[in-house]
Amino acid sequence: MPLQLGGGKGRIDLPATDKDRPSSKKNRRRHKKPAAAPPPPPTPTPTPTPVPAMQSLFDTSKEVFRDSFPGFVPPPQAVARLAALLNDLKPHDVEIEPSMSCFKNVDSKGPPRVTYLHFYDCPKFSFGIFCLPKSAVIPLHNHPGMTVFCKILFGSMHLKSYDWAKSAPDSDSTALETSEGARLAKVNTDAVFDASAETTVLYPENGGNLHCFTARTPCAVLDVMGPPYNRADGRDCSYYDELPYMSSSGGDARYAWLKENHSTFEMKGVQMPQRFIV
Ligand SMILES: [Fe+2]
Repeated sequence: MPLQLGGGKGRIDLPATDKDRPSSKKNRRRHKKPAAAPPPPPTPTPTPTPVPAMQSLFDTSKEVFRDSFPGFVPPPQAVARLAALLNDLKPHDVEIEPSMSCFKNVDSKGPPRVTYLHFYDCPKFSFGIFCLPKSAVIPLHNHPGMTVFCKILFGSMHLKSYDWAKSAPDSDSTALETSEGARLAKVNTDAVFDASAETTVLYPENGGNLHCFTARTPCAVLDVMGPPYNRADGRDCSYYDELPYMSSSGGDARYAWLKENHSTFEMKGVQMPQRFIV
């Protein structure tokens, strides 16, 4: 029978408990606790099925970056081996396809958002895939002390890259840095690429260590980089503004002044299941 608290309007009905019932021998008797049920057997953790291409990518990257440290350049044979493996990599090998939501511009306000599919990270190297909807931009940034392998898996994008200039083209003005802190850089690449392009490799001092991407169509770019960015080690990612370079004889599009703008670039990060054995 329900126990009534208060009376009349607004009363609250609660179920009666043993405590509320008249005292009796039966009620005073201590109930024996039922024996605890044995714990259920542990559920085995499912082991992900290794994907052969992902396994090869991991194994080869591990070998190439075995001795990685800031400024490290892998031996040419090792670079060729990883580049060749990436040249043959197809989207289905890494379980991505253009119909995935990360290649669509779901928010009409602001620039299309870039997603980073994070596959693996250790102090020696990391790899993942940048997913760019059409018109998405990864602004001009550096890779301090790093070697980076870049492979377009599908789509088309404009790539512009620079290396820090070792000398100025103008004998009348040999400065490599302005009083405002901009540094002279030489254009390495300024062209449109698609998945038919071979793997590009950038190095700590050359190969286009600073670059920016603009997606002409939805596109996916796989990066293997070593050693990864490390803020504590003074190797965070920096972003730059490009300012035109003027020599004494006029503009020179082969060069630009790059000034760090201390901005950040927000990407959506997605941790991917590890489909390879470390
Ligand atoms: Fe980059």
